[in-house]
Amino acid sequence: MRKIILLIFPMIALMAAPSAYEQGKKLYFSKGCNGCHGISAEGTNIYPALAYRRKALLTSKLKRLRSKQGDTQLAQLMIPFAMKLTDSQIDAITTFLSEYYEQKSKKHYEPDDSNTGDGSS
Ligand code: HEC
Repeated sequence: MRKIILLIFPMIALMAAPSAYEQGKKLYFSKGCNGCHGISAEGTNIYPALAYRRKALLTSKLKRLRSKQGDTQLAQLMIPFAMKLTDSQIDAITTFLSEYYEQKSKKHYEPDDSNTGDGSS
């Protein structure tokens, strides 16, 4: 009986632990990446898109930036953020970005014109 409990317990602990994807998603927002790369990691005309890109490429880019090697002047913006990441955080974030399967939030992009009111206030 004891053996069974000892076997089951780590299994439950593993199941309860957040996946690398979920950890990466949390980090993406808590580290402020969304501020430049967008809430859907879609990028802008200045900041590169990150979602759906290859994990190996994102990892090597991040590690290069972390060691203060940037190829463009814009990279200077990114370096301080990369410098705060540990290897395991980079692993989680790049898992999140490469496997990206979030639903796009339409609300964020479309102006809400449903708020026309009923004329009384
Ligand atoms: C202040 C704005 C800013 C923030 C915040 C920021 N980045 Fe960046 N990031 C950039 C810029 C600018 C580049 C492009 C650098 C270059 O041209 O080499 C970049 C490049 C990257 C790249 C390489 C992509 C490519 O195609 O070259 C990755 C990966 C990346 N950022 C991930 C992140 C992650 C993860 C975070 C959060 C920890 C983050 N960024 C936060 C501005 C930002």
